[in-house]
Amino acid sequence: MTGYAPTIGSGRPAMNPLREGLRLEQTPPPCTMVIFGVTGDLTHRKLMPQLYDLTVDTPLPAAFSIVGFARRDWSDDFFRDEMKGSVKKALGSKVDDAAWQAFAPRLSYVQSNFDDPQGYRRLKETLDRLDQERGAGGNRIFYLATPPSYYPIIINHLREAGLAEREVRALDAQKSGWTRLVIEKPFGHDLASAQALNNEIAGAFSESQVYRIDHYLGKETVQNLLVFRFGNGIFEPLWNRQYIDHVQITVAEAIGIEGRGEFYEEAGALRDIVQSHMFQVLSLIAMEPPSTINEKTVRDEKVQVLQAIAPLRGATIASDVVRGQYGPGWMNGRVAPGYRAEKGVDPDSSVETYMAMKLRIDNWRWAGVPFYLRTGKTLPQRTTEIAVQFRSVPALLFAGTGTMLPEPNVLTLRIQPDAGISLRFAAKVPGAEMQIRSVNMDFFYGTAFTASGPDDYARLLLDCMRGEQTLFARRDEVEQAWAIVTPIMEYWARHPRPNFPNYEAGTWGPPEADALIERDGRRWRRL
Ligand code: BG6
Repeated sequence: MTGYAPTIGSGRPAMNPLREGLRLEQTPPPCTMVIFGVTGDLTHRKLMPQLYDLTVDTPLPAAFSIVGFARRDWSDDFFRDEMKGSVKKALGSKVDDAAWQAFAPRLSYVQSNFDDPQGYRRLKETLDRLDQERGAGGNRIFYLATPPSYYPIIINHLREAGLAEREVRALDAQKSGWTRLVIEKPFGHDLASAQALNNEIAGAFSESQVYRIDHYLGKETVQNLLVFRFGNGIFEPLWNRQYIDHVQITVAEAIGIEGRGEFYEEAGALRDIVQSHMFQVLSLIAMEPPSTINEKTVRDEKVQVLQAIAPLRGATIASDVVRGQYGPGWMNGRVAPGYRAEKGVDPDSSVETYMAMKLRIDNWRWAGVPFYLRTGKTLPQRTTEIAVQFRSVPALLFAGTGTMLPEPNVLTLRIQPDAGISLRFAAKVPGAEMQIRSVNMDFFYGTAFTASGPDDYARLLLDCMRGEQTLFARRDEVEQAWAIVTPIMEYWARHPRPNFPNYEAGTWGPPEADALIERDGRRWRRL
């Protein structure tokens, strides 16, 4: 990883906030990041390796420090050793001892239960000390990486300990320092609980302090959706119901639930992927061009897309939403267990590990263009992509010539792996006959650019340090996403248990998912 591209919006007040654009600033201000639940999986696998990487590759201020807050009885030294193990596991030979020696003093640990006021007092003392010793300027980020049931408890204790300090983006914010709250998904488990959580948060922090993190928005290729759509003149005129037949969004995972049975039993594919990552991608694909790119305008437009999604109710849920759960199957030449046999999973579970759905966006641009979404665990391969299929040409010209009719053009935006963009179009097969075949025009990120930016979490945390909220979910966005999926969950709860498992691990999901799209005379893309 080298260098760092300019971030795309700005969190700072300006003369005319609607006209703020690209921000070229490189170094964020000094700050201390407190990670609650620092002994958990997310910190080990993602946060600490990416924060380490960030300090190595990006000019972070010397005063940037990390305080771990968790229940285990660890010392500072033990915490550092544990983190070193995780960072080495994730980054391998990239971690050399000299670089680690420079990083380790940035780490300290506060042991406490999440509901113990004494722990928050100790935390405050630690933060004040770091302000003094390292010059963090009173700037603080609280990252909630605990199970969600602790969020309200931690937020209340932060408020009671005087650590929440509402921020009104005042001009003197620099003097007293700022405070920001980063929250991991899931933000609630349905609309009512999301509203309740947002109310808890609003009781202690202003919205301008809240950073709801969805790591998909930190992926380079997801951010590129904005540049692709609004930085090119040739696609936007075609980006509407006149030219587009339908859109398919796929988040296929080849992994199962990776030992997270207890978490997944509470989540399922609808909450884990659709309500969050897929709706984020969908709203970027479908949004109107904002007047400029900043945290207000972009998020306003994204919310408008979610608001325009036709509500799914009763009969439409029965016909347009399909759920699945994997049973045992073959993956990579081995027998893989079914979901119900995973650790922490109810042997009779009706939690969905696959889902497919058809959505309508009832607005001027998209009326009549179906959006098909599918996601699942233990599918044959890992692929996240958006495929925009254009309308077919009139068949007249080639009808009766004995040649195959041209397939419709498809523009594919590949998020991962092999990030890039392809355009499928018809070409004549060389030879005396008039034969037509589809070919691809391909762009691969990996070959077009030699440098890559920070990874998803690091990228977003850097934005948070800078006070840049564009790539974080706003309260109304999250609630609107829940408003769309909550009726589905309620419908499922009211209806007979599904005949799970209904697809084998290592296959492309239940047959009902094929029927969902084939009924409309279309097919899922073969990946
Ligand atoms: C997480 C989900 O948010 O995203 C996981 O909880 C999922 O279940 C993961 O595997 C997928 O992220 P990525 O970056 O691997 O596509």
